[in-house]
Amino acid sequence: MSRIVYVNGEYLPEEEATVSIFDRGFLMADGVYEVTAVLEGKLTDFPGHMARLERSLAELDIQKPAEFDDLLEIHRELVRRNDVVEGGIYLQITRGAPGDRDFAFPDPETTKPTVVLFTQSKPGLANSPAAKTGIKVIAIDDIRWGRRDIKTVQLLYPSMGKMMAKAAGADDAWMVQDGAVTEGTSNNAYIVKGCTIITRGLSNDILHGITRAAVLRFAEEAQMQVEERPFTIAEAQQADEAFVTSASTFVMPVVEIDGATIGTGTPGPVAKRLREIYLEESIKAAV
Ligand code: PDD
Repeated sequence: MSRIVYVNGEYLPEEEATVSIFDRGFLMADGVYEVTAVLEGKLTDFPGHMARLERSLAELDIQKPAEFDDLLEIHRELVRRNDVVEGGIYLQITRGAPGDRDFAFPDPETTKPTVVLFTQSKPGLANSPAAKTGIKVIAIDDIRWGRRDIKTVQLLYPSMGKMMAKAAGADDAWMVQDGAVTEGTSNNAYIVKGCTIITRGLSNDILHGITRAAVLRFAEEAQMQVEERPFTIAEAQQADEAFVTSASTFVMPVVEIDGATIGTGTPGPVAKRLREIYLEESIKAAV
């Protein structure tokens, strides 16, 4: 049975779902997206993802095509129709397809946003083997545009970063700007020194991770110290632990940075504990 996806008001088998060649998402990367994790058949951190979506749309002056309740219903319907127990839902909204190519934005009265959603079933995601061994990252220059706080579909450089990591025998890359780590190619980056969790503060330089917000809240509730400030690769290589967070990896330990082993070279207690708390609490709050 083929996957059922959602396109502009219709639920269709994936082979039948189409968007126009003039869609600005396709021609200009003029669109935004969200990835919401599914655990035990429910949506995690859903209000956070919708709040960020609304902000991304507003920053780019793209019309909001549907209300929160409608989007929640579409997400739930796709989970139901595709029997997703663990995995994620990808949502993309573009400025739409004006019927030709033009740099100027089309009139929002005549060009409606394109809305696409599909599921990615990943059984075993919460129990991923990588979380038990930890991952290896390399450092690369951050040459992305200056509005990384907007979750746009311009993902060419992050894709190239993942390929650079793969070529170097690593799993992912941390991006560095003016000597300090901004974030991972598709996740937020952290180090742990003593009892303190260190991660770059929020600005236009990084995506305001929904998992980041939850994890930092849980860390503070568990009386852990959190310091929001930039850190260098050299400082990270001397840290006791390192990890990343995202809706697709939750809390993922990092055990090697640019060839240097972090701590004991195995996932550390802070990352392991935060992963446990995150999974437990986000499943409890899932909708
Ligand atoms: N990526 N930073 C970047 C550059 C990201 O692309 C992501 C998410 C994050 C973490 O955000 P969140 O915790 O809200 O998932 C940080 C998603 C998972 C992706 O592109 O697949």
